[in-house]
Amino acid sequence: MSEAKIALVTGANKGIGYEIAAGLGALGFTVGVGARDGQRRETAVAKLRAAGVDAFGVPLDVTDDASVTAAAALVEERAGRLDALVNNAGVTGDRAQLPTTVDLAVMRAVVETNVLGVIRVTNAMLPLLRRSTSPRIVNMSSSVGSLARQSAVESELTTGPIAVAYSPSKTFLNAVTVQYVRELRGTNILINAACPGYVATDLNNFRGVRTPEQGAAIAVRLATLPDDGPTGGFFEDAGVVPW
Ligand SMILES: NC(=O)c1ccc[n+]([C@@H]2O[C@H](COP(=O)([O-])OP(=O)(O)OC[C@H]3O[C@@H](n4cnc5c(N)ncnc54)[C@H](OP(=O)(O)O)[C@@H]3O)[C@@H](O)[C@H]2O)c1
Repeated sequence: MSEAKIALVTGANKGIGYEIAAGLGALGFTVGVGARDGQRRETAVAKLRAAGVDAFGVPLDVTDDASVTAAAALVEERAGRLDALVNNAGVTGDRAQLPTTVDLAVMRAVVETNVLGVIRVTNAMLPLLRRSTSPRIVNMSSSVGSLARQSAVESELTTGPIAVAYSPSKTFLNAVTVQYVRELRGTNILINAACPGYVATDLNNFRGVRTPEQGAAIAVRLATLPDDGPTGGFFEDAGVVPW
């Protein structure tokens, strides 16, 4: 088994996920680059390797059972265990998301990726995480999933437009995160949700104001928490995000 710590980042071919992979790689992790598209995956792996990261490609569509099962088998074969899982892959659902007119197919697609995808990947990777001496799970959420912030009077300013698929998918993910924490309390697995801030990526047509590297920092921190670090929290760079 490898001496280096092993991480898997989902949706690591671009945006924040790529920078999480780069950040963990810079800290000495061997990084599995989870990505569904072969070309985009190999380009990202090559770029990371050129930057000195020990990266390997992991074909991974978080909505597909067989793909996730195969990904776990590949990580087991390559590394024998997993020290950090960063559930970063996510979609917005794009189209207009007013509650009164939303297309339920958009709701289903967003939940399938942002929530069920996280559960699918986490459960497949848990046996490998249990072999680590310091396993960490980071779920890439968003402050738009914060009910406290969404319901604040000035929420248009702080949590973006009304989006009945995307925002509640992150609220759902936060709730799921807490359920994992409850079940796994008493183990050495630390599980937290992260908000990267408003980051310029494909997700928002590059309207965000932070760089992907800045957005990645909180996930890198939570993936490398010391053994006495927090679990069951929701964090951004500035500190705790209210649920
Ligand atoms: N950008 C922001 O301001 C912001 C704010 C708060 C939270 N977030 C969260 O941060 C995470 C990363 O977002 P980003 O801004 O970096 O967006 P992005 O540039 O659009 O990247 C999203 C990544 O997820 C992947 N992905 C989507 N569906 C997938 C699936 N079914 N299986 C595997 N991979 C899949 C994409 O792969 P493809 O290239 O194949 O599509 C891509 O690698 C998301 O969870 C997002 O909700 C972002």
